[in-house]
Amino acid sequence: MGRRLIIDCDPGVDDAVMLLLACAARDALDIAGITTVAGNVGAALTARNACIVRGIAAREDIPVFAGCTRPLRRAPVEAGHFHGESGLGDLPISAPRHGPEPRHAVDFIVATLLAAAPASVTLVATGPLTNVATALAREPVIRRGLREIALMGGARSEGGNITASSEYNIHADPDAAQAVFGSGCTVVAFGLDATHQVRATPARVDAVRAVGSRAALAAAELLEFSNALPANGPRAQGAPLHDPCPIVWLLRPEAFRFRPCHVDVETASPLTLGHTAVEFRAAPQRPQNVLWAVAADGDAVFDVLTASLAQDSRRP
Ligand code: RIB
Ligand code: CA
Repeated sequence: MGRRLIIDCDPGVDDAVMLLLACAARDALDIAGITTVAGNVGAALTARNACIVRGIAAREDIPVFAGCTRPLRRAPVEAGHFHGESGLGDLPISAPRHGPEPRHAVDFIVATLLAAAPASVTLVATGPLTNVATALAREPVIRRGLREIALMGGARSEGGNITASSEYNIHADPDAAQAVFGSGCTVVAFGLDATHQVRATPARVDAVRAVGSRAALAAAELLEFSNALPANGPRAQGAPLHDPCPIVWLLRPEAFRFRPCHVDVETASPLTLGHTAVEFRAAPQRPQNVLWAVAADGDAVFDVLTASLAQDSRRP
C-alpha cells in the first residue's frame, strides 16, 4: 500500500502535470481523493479540469470533490494568463465522462482525516489554501490524522511571480496561507526558490513526449504551452515547473534540500500582500514547523516524471 494522500489543487496547467504524475505513480501513492479550489481559474473549471485530467490518466477510480469558490476574505485573483481560458492550456476540452462527487471538498478532507490513523495522511496542496484552511478551522482535531502538508507556494530569495513580493498561491488567499503555516502542522513548502530551479527545457519535454502514452503526450503539450508563454522567459531555458515538486518529493526526497524555518504571511499591506516571511533563525516565539525547499535537482524531477509516466504506460 502506497503513501496515503489527499491532493488539493487548482488545475491549472502545472497542476495537471502534477496530477498526471501522481496518477501514474499508482504503486507508491494511494490517492484518497482530489479536491479542487478556485484559483488559476474558477471553481467549476478547476473541478472539471481535474476530472478531465483524471480521465486522461485512466484513474477514474479516484474521486474528485469541488471546493471553495472564493478566498476566505479577499476578492478572487485568477491566473488565466498563465493557464489559458480553459485552465488547461490548449489541450482539447470535452466534458469529462464522470464529474465531481456531490460532496464538498472541505467535507471530504475533514471526514477523511477524522477517520485516518494518526499522522497517516499527506495533504498535497498546489493551489490557494482556502480548502485546507477552512477544514482546519472547522475541525482542528484533523491535524492528528495529518502526517504533513506538502504545498507549492511562497517565495523568499526569488521574489514574487504575481507581485514583486508574493507568489500566486499565497497571494490569492493570504489569510488561508497564514492559517495553514500557523496551524502547528508540519508543512513542507516548495516555493519559487526551489521551483525556479526546475525548468522544462525542450530536451526534457521531448523525453516526456517520447514516452508516447496518452498521459505523457498530454503532459508534454501542457509543458509546451507554458514554454510558449513569453512571460515564462526564453523557450530554450524552459518554464519553471511548480506543482509536480511536492509529488516528486514523495517519490524521490533526495531531489530536494530543505532548511527548517518559521513562516509568516503578510495579510494586510496592499503593497506586499501574500509575502512569505521565511525566518531561518530559531526563537521560542517562532516554532520551526516549516521545512523550506532551498534547492531542487531539475534533472531528478524530470527523471521521476518521465519514468513514472513510462512505467504506467507499460501496464496492461
Ligand atoms: O506560483 C505558481 C503557482 O500558482 C502554481 O500552483 C500554479 O498552478 C499557480 O496556481
Ligand atoms: Ca496550482
